[in-house]
Amino acid sequence: MLNTRRPRRNRKSETIRAMVQEHFVSTNDLIFPLFLLDGNNKKVEVASMPGIFRLSLDLMLKEIDACMKLGIKAFDVFPAVEDSLKDKTATKGYDPNFFYLRALKEIKKQFPEACIMTDVAMDPYSSDGHDGLVKDGKILNDETLEILGKMALAQAETGIDILGPSDMMDGRVGYMRELLDKNGFTEVSIMSYTAKYASAFYNPFRDALESAPKFGDKKTYQMNPANSTEALIEAELDTQEGADFLMVKPALAYLDIIKLLKDHCNLPIAAYNVSGEYAMVKAAAQKGWLDGDRVMNEVLLSMKRAGADVILTYFAKEFAEKLRK
Ligand code: PBG
Repeated sequence: MLNTRRPRRNRKSETIRAMVQEHFVSTNDLIFPLFLLDGNNKKVEVASMPGIFRLSLDLMLKEIDACMKLGIKAFDVFPAVEDSLKDKTATKGYDPNFFYLRALKEIKKQFPEACIMTDVAMDPYSSDGHDGLVKDGKILNDETLEILGKMALAQAETGIDILGPSDMMDGRVGYMRELLDKNGFTEVSIMSYTAKYASAFYNPFRDALESAPKFGDKKTYQMNPANSTEALIEAELDTQEGADFLMVKPALAYLDIIKLLKDHCNLPIAAYNVSGEYAMVKAAAQKGWLDGDRVMNEVLLSMKRAGADVILTYFAKEFAEKLRK
């Protein structure tokens, strides 16, 4: 006997399909990562990320304005630092006169209503290209915390909204939270890179910032892609230490981790749709092998379905533009 249940009835028209749709991507969910260059009137495309540019502050302000008009109101700003300015202790990371910190201040001044997130890690400023302090080929944990603390305070001073510790040192969320609170920055949020994996999907980002490690890899601090239970340990610690958001990174090959954290934690979950995930879609679309727009929508939707409340994505502006059409 044929079953009387016919799920296809709920797919029979555009209207019914829309009526029963369970998950949505909204511009409210998206954070747009931006790459900042020193200087004026500079716009350099990232070779492995078609459509994504490194911008000097003047052009970044225009870009933020354009995005705000499209409904993208949150931005994660990363600095591209010249090699000659990098050193062992990432000194420029907390020099208030450095272009990154001055730019953050200007961005918040011009767009007080925008949500500005920053990156707390040593790699953009480190001559070793690592997220922590290197000694005898090892990444030192507690010594790194002191440097990250200085970076966090210097960034908080600029008026930004959310700090993004992307370094994976142990104890950094608690260390930063205490330091921020002691200095009166109780309102500055922390979006912790909670489950950040030692992934091959970051290469285009490292091209953008010229921040690849000068030796070795990041496996002693970033997580092993083969592990999932370990993400719960990180999530528990970050929650205890005072994080406001927990992030999973990368996103697409780690949808199970997004779901795992969503099911076990009460904090909002963020997914970082990283540079390599963007590059794959763009490369295949350029070759005509995939429909880039449809794949973009499907990829973002998969992250929402897995349980992400927030998505950091290089597609943010494009998604908002296509929504208008
Ligand atoms: C480094 C950092 C990385 C990204 C954000 N912050 C790369 C890395 O860990 O080497 C990657 C983002 C992307 O690939 O889009 N602190």
